[in-house]
Parts: sequence; C-alpha cells; structure tokens
Amino acid sequence: MIELKINGQLTKLDVSEDMPLLWALRDVAKLTGSKYGCGKGICGACTVHIDGQAMRSCITPMSYAQGKSITTIEGLAEQGDHPVQQAWQDLKVAQCGYCQTGQIMSAAALLANNPNPSDADINGAMAGNICRCGTYPRIRAAIKQAAKANKAGAQS
Ligand code: FES
Ligand code: FES
Repeated sequence: MIELKINGQLTKLDVSEDMPLLWALRDVAKLTGSKYGCGKGICGACTVHIDGQAMRSCITPMSYAQGKSITTIEGLAEQGDHPVQQAWQDLKVAQCGYCQTGQIMSAAALLANNPNPSDADINGAMAGNICRCGTYPRIRAAIKQAAKANKAGAQS
C-alpha cells in the first residue's frame, strides 16, 4: 500500500513501488486528465505537480511519489477556473487537446514559481511540452495573459 496526497486528499493505493505514477493516477485513482504520450519523459503530456514542481508522471515511480503531494489537472482549481485555465479558454488555446493538460500543468508551475516570466523563461519552462498541433503561439499568449491576471488579482 502506498500513501500519498492526491489533489489534497490523503490516498492509499494498492500498487507496486515501481509502477509509474501516471499508471496509478489513471488506472487506479481513475484520474484520467493526465495523458500518456511517449512514456519516456519526452513529450510532457503526463505532467503533474509533485510538491509544487512540474514533473513527468510517466517516468516517476510510486516509490518516489510516496508521501508526496500530487496535483493533477483535476485538482488545479475546484471549479476549473485557475488563471491559466481561464486564459486557455479565453484564447481558445487547445486544438485536438491531447497535450493540453500537460501544457497547463507546466504553465501553472511556471507562474507559481515565477509570476512574471520573460519569453526566455516561458520557452525554458515549456520546452519539454510538445504539441503536435502547433499551438505554441497561443500557449505563450495565454501564459502572458494568466501572468497579468495574477498580477491584477494580487493588486486588488
Ligand atoms: S507521456 Fe510522460 S513525458 Fe510523454
Ligand atoms: S493541441 Fe493537439 S497535440 Fe497539442
């Protein structure tokens, strides 16, 4: 039995220590927002937050996730209205959508650690998230919009 926190809930999962976190989330915890793309840590479709850092759940074994706090797209905001999600909707970022939860989780972690990222910061943080539909310009615009919304929220 492996114990960890998922989206704020203390959770026990009957899985082996070498099972990738992505498998445990999707197949055992039934949280299917995180996607399987490459399974090798290359595409970013499986990105979740582990103790606040964006990480690839497909190459993270449960032995590492044990005792940690995991946030998936389902837990990013109760109403799905995190500033990043709102900016994504406003700018209609998604095309096929497959990569987008990973993109959003990487963007949310970036802004949590760096509320006012430069283009270079965005490029660096998002470099590992691949989008076969080529939504990169809208992703960058949405991150900038979310950063502005965060700033406005902090001032009000
Ligand atoms: S599925 Fe994890 S990085 Fe591609
Ligand atoms: S929106 Fe289709 S892969 Fe990114």
